[in-house]
Amino acid sequence: MTEGIEGLFARTEEFPNSSARARLAALVGLDDLIDRLATDAVALLDPTTIQSWSKAVHGEVIPAVTALADRTPLLVFAGDVGVGKTEVAEVIGQVIATRADADVTLYPLSLTARGRGAVGEMTTLLTRAFERISADFVRARRSDGTASSLGVLLIDEADALAQSRELAQMHHEDRAGVNALLRGIDGMRTDRLPVLTILCTNRLDALDPAVQRRAAAIEVFGRPNRAQRFALLARHLSGAKLSDTEIDGLAAATGESADRSYGYTYSDLRQRLIPEMVLAAYRHGVALDALIAHEVLARTPPTRPFEALTR
Ligand SMILES: Nc1ncnc2c1ncn2[C@@H]1O[C@H](COP(=O)(O)OP(=O)(O)O)[C@@H](O)[C@H]1O
Ligand SMILES: [Mg+2]
Repeated sequence: MTEGIEGLFARTEEFPNSSARARLAALVGLDDLIDRLATDAVALLDPTTIQSWSKAVHGEVIPAVTALADRTPLLVFAGDVGVGKTEVAEVIGQVIATRADADVTLYPLSLTARGRGAVGEMTTLLTRAFERISADFVRARRSDGTASSLGVLLIDEADALAQSRELAQMHHEDRAGVNALLRGIDGMRTDRLPVLTILCTNRLDALDPAVQRRAAAIEVFGRPNRAQRFALLARHLSGAKLSDTEIDGLAAATGESADRSYGYTYSDLRQRLIPEMVLAAYRHGVALDALIAHEVLARTPPTRPFEALTR
């Protein structure tokens, strides 16, 4: 870890590593998404991979490939709370490292945790983060365009930016936080730093249009469907006293219903429902079975979507 970094980023992480491999393996139903995101990330970070593809299939590097090289390596992850945005952003470096056969370092920056309230504080935080990353990666790209090491800058809880903007307008200040972000990502693109920025937000509608325009992709994460819920439940309840049919019953019961237009989130299932079931069975001193599971389900409703809260 570089000196001074502790105060700025939550903790940097080097990929590949075994804990990230385990976290990746624990994710359910996101294989295709992660595969696509990692492919895009490598194409954006290392233009030589896509140049090789173009030469192989077109016999030359076609102009369209050059246009791609001008895209900002920025991905926006949007969606409700608890649908896997942070988790995917934190482990995607593992897949990128394997694909690109390079070391990847994650720089996680949470705007909620660090810059709460004060607009100026968040602006300073963002500016310092980009300065640090520029210093770390300015020499990472080789003359042939490949990179010796890659970076992932994770700007989590970016809703705080929008809030700061609303606050700033109230106080007739400028859009300092958003401008610091734009300056940072534009600077990294101009300097062709091999750094992917991932910005997570629960409120895509509140994200500045200028930031959205720069995104190479905007990925909207959703709540798990029935098959995904089944896979997650089956994985955690294996060995418990529930048949596949009973687990499928839980997968059905955790979906949308007549009186509810939304189902359980990944975190509702993994961090609330399943632990509650274990505790309930333990308290009763009985096996975890369908009866216990449904008893817990009945008193553990899913998180309301953000839109449902504001409507
Ligand atoms: N696809 C998934 N499979 C298994 N667990 C998941 C999945 N997506 C999210 N989770 C779990 O749900 C919890 C919340 O995920 P997180 O990434 O923090 O949500 P978000 O950032 O979208 O609010 C974490 O414990 C995470 O491991
Ligand atoms: Mg999150």
